[in-house]
Amino acid sequence: MTFKALLLTCEEDAKPVAQLTELTDADLPDGDVVVDVQYSGLNFKDGMCLTGLGRLVRTYPHVAGIDLAGVVHSSKDDRFKAGDAVVLTGWRVGEAWWGGYAARACVKADWLLPMPDGFTAKTAMGVGTAGFSAMLAIMALEDAGVTPDHGTILVTGATGGVGSIAVQLLARRGYQVAAVSGKPDAEQFLKPLGAAEILPREEFAATNRPMESARWAGVIDNVGGEMLARILGQVNYGGSVAIVGNAGSNDIKTTNIPFMLRGIKMLGIDSVMQPNPRRVAVWAELAKTLDADQFESVITAISLADLPEYGKKILQGHISGRTVVDLSL
Ligand SMILES: NC(=O)c1ccc[n+]([C@@H]2O[C@H](COP(=O)([O-])OP(=O)(O)OC[C@H]3O[C@@H](n4cnc5c(N)ncnc54)[C@H](OP(=O)(O)O)[C@@H]3O)[C@@H](O)[C@H]2O)c1
Repeated sequence: MTFKALLLTCEEDAKPVAQLTELTDADLPDGDVVVDVQYSGLNFKDGMCLTGLGRLVRTYPHVAGIDLAGVVHSSKDDRFKAGDAVVLTGWRVGEAWWGGYAARACVKADWLLPMPDGFTAKTAMGVGTAGFSAMLAIMALEDAGVTPDHGTILVTGATGGVGSIAVQLLARRGYQVAAVSGKPDAEQFLKPLGAAEILPREEFAATNRPMESARWAGVIDNVGGEMLARILGQVNYGGSVAIVGNAGSNDIKTTNIPFMLRGIKMLGIDSVMQPNPRRVAVWAELAKTLDADQFESVITAISLADLPEYGKKILQGHISGRTVVDLSL
């Protein structure tokens, strides 16, 4: 039997080329569990894999897709059996191992979780790595002592995948949320999700001042670079900044002044190698916090054939909310 896949090939020193094709089980990598993939997702990192940015994929031909959800087809591992609904995010699947941009995947059992209560394959991929990371970031802020009565939480790259889910989750947990966006229509998109205030990107241009008036009890940063450097000087005494992404830049040119004078903290967030007990806890918090109807409204479904175009768009910051890949389309 064959199944459809978006296969990436790449000549040396060239950009990868994506082709819709049919594969068989014999083409799949040698894992423990074969999954019939129903949905995958589109994350910033998927855009990187699809376009070759950052050379995350080293071996071709390759099937990208860092997230996948579906039903177990067959399993060599006792923890899973045919018919089980499962979800996978991270573990370098889609980068160093074939991922979710095919109707069938073969992966290690250690990387799979039973589908968390309250989610379907579609809504789990609507969450995907982006929503999982947003929840990890909120839990990290809360573990560092941030609570709703401490003040406003700032979210950068707010219309993006991580940002838009962070806005929803924070608002539903009772936080006052301020959102930074470069998109002209950000207000229409973000206010219904719970953002109280929308701030244009230009307000966070580089400054020489190491500290400014304290404004933020906590920050979820998806952008990095000059914006992050400026924000560090605006964090309240004892506040924390969850470092999630680098959609703007990897570089931070800052000073140690806000750390010494305001005792602020930077918290590193990694979604890829989180141990499974933490993953289960994060999904349980997601189920508890998300509003299913509101969440569906920010999910766009595309097909495998749409991915090359969407991979470029996400890197250009032109996508709002979450995009899932429906393998039945
Ligand atoms: N640490 C982890 O485990 C982890 C997990 C997931 C994602 N990430 C990282 O987090 C970041 C966001 O991921 P995502 O999937 O949410 O991507 P996304 O959907 O593309 O969102 C990124 C958003 O950042 C803003 N942005 C883009 N380019 C920018 C620039 N040059 N300057 C300022 N803002 C810019 C845009 O929002 P506005 O137009 O609203 O400003 C864009 O929508 C990426 O860097 C990704 O690699 C890390």
